[in-house]
Amino acid sequence: MLITVIGSGYVGLVSAVCLAEMGHQVIAVDSDKEKIAALTRGEAPIYESLVPELLRRHGGKRLRFSSFPKAAVTASDVVFLAVGTPQGGNGEADLSQIEAVAKEIAPVLHRSTLIVEKSTVPVCTCEALRELLLHNGAQAGWFSVASNPEFLREGSAVTDFLHPDRIVIGADDEFSRFMLQEVYRPLASGAYYRREDAVPCPARNQGRVRLLVTSAKSAELIKHASNAFLATKISYINTVARLAEEVGANIDEVCAGMGSDPRIGSEFLRAGVGYGGSCFPKDVAAFEAVARRCGVDIPLLREVARVNEEQRIRFVEKVRRTLGTLRGRRIAALGLAFKEDTDDVRESPAIAIVCDLTRQGALVCAHDPAAISRAREALPNVPITYTQDPYEAARGCDALLILTAWRQFAGLDLQKLHSLMKAPLIFDGRNLFVPEEMAAAGFVYHSVGRPSLRAERPAMTPIGLPSAMGYTVARIAAAAEQAGVEAPARAASQSRVPNDYSPRTPQRATDRPHQ
Ligand code: UDX
Repeated sequence: MLITVIGSGYVGLVSAVCLAEMGHQVIAVDSDKEKIAALTRGEAPIYESLVPELLRRHGGKRLRFSSFPKAAVTASDVVFLAVGTPQGGNGEADLSQIEAVAKEIAPVLHRSTLIVEKSTVPVCTCEALRELLLHNGAQAGWFSVASNPEFLREGSAVTDFLHPDRIVIGADDEFSRFMLQEVYRPLASGAYYRREDAVPCPARNQGRVRLLVTSAKSAELIKHASNAFLATKISYINTVARLAEEVGANIDEVCAGMGSDPRIGSEFLRAGVGYGGSCFPKDVAAFEAVARRCGVDIPLLREVARVNEEQRIRFVEKVRRTLGTLRGRRIAALGLAFKEDTDDVRESPAIAIVCDLTRQGALVCAHDPAAISRAREALPNVPITYTQDPYEAARGCDALLILTAWRQFAGLDLQKLHSLMKAPLIFDGRNLFVPEEMAAAGFVYHSVGRPSLRAERPAMTPIGLPSAMGYTVARIAAAAEQAGVEAPARAASQSRVPNDYSPRTPQRATDRPHQ
């Protein structure tokens, strides 16, 4: 099929390279001429696994680039709209980019064309888009509008597209249903997965894909409701983590117990400094706003957002309380991206945290494997020192903060880290390590929803703790617990942190479980 994708950002570009990979002829359109020139040269403007490979494979062949939407649309059977829908006033989605594209392409809709809403939009946008196209010169009967939401996670967007859990086809007429089923036939029939050069399949997909055909409005709701639900799961577990911290329980153990219930599921139960990114924060706000506009109040979603904001503030407060003051303290911040495997810093909890630290007078030295230049752009006037080396960030610091769950951080040489830091004090906002292992390695270690432990010995032995051991043990223990197998024994002595190092100074019941 001949397909145009309008908008070559994260969603649009991933969709375009994957549709080409599935065998379609694709034109990726963007109004940014520099971006189109870079793509034409084969350069990926985003940091996303497998996008460069697929660009090389299909660029200039099945995949072409253009800044002229009208010409591309005229030649196409299906047009995906993947332009930005940022947060506008009152939390509502700003649909101005969709409206601008609709006005531009409406006059050229003279042959049977399907317009597909791919960007995340509030319920009823398809309906509004249909009207807008008609008012701007599209010929009634010559086009249809459908919804086909994406569920792509940054960092694994290509495999998510090609090996999805489900494909939602939100279509209100036979033409839309037929055309979208044709678009996804290579995945739904399993033909793509039988190709030798297919992008390898992660465990989740069993070789063919489920197409879920719904109305356009249901599809729009599925997208918003899914993201809001996942955000709710994260805020919920972060709230439970607060309680676990108060009473001296361990959120990892709580999650293993909860996640074993298939009705709950073990994914998206990672406690930490909260969610960020270009989707969850804006989607929670937009879903709440559209529901309110439709007369349905969802206070739960306001609470989800509030808990998420508070999570970052509480984390900084924990650091401040432990250090006495942040003024003049040297803080190493590991991680700036909103999550691992991406350079995206939009709505990143890490960015909010480093800003808060510097506002309170801390001297922050930050490292991220991929997001430093994006962080510099986002924080032009914030006095942060950046370093390409995590050990440089740690040199001479009063405390080290882990803010993004990069695999590289879990693999750090703990002995080296320990020797460089002024004080062996770690605040792990992503629970990358096992507290007992870190204490055994000589660190005072605070994490989220787990007991804070003081160092069991003043420094590392020459043998030290093998790097990433804490991380590996954490994963083995979690997997063993989930499989119902006894996990490897943890360090027997769990010396509790004295009150001056504990997250809360009042006398707590931290030792109660052992009494
Ligand atoms: C999300 C959705 O997963 C995807 O389906 C949708 O289409 C786009 O939005 P993405 O924004 O790439 O994808 O990130 P995701 O992996 O979902 O993580 C979002 C945020 O939640 C990150 O900041 C992550 O660190 C945080 N998170 C995730 C947690 O804090 N705990 C968890 O258990 C899971």
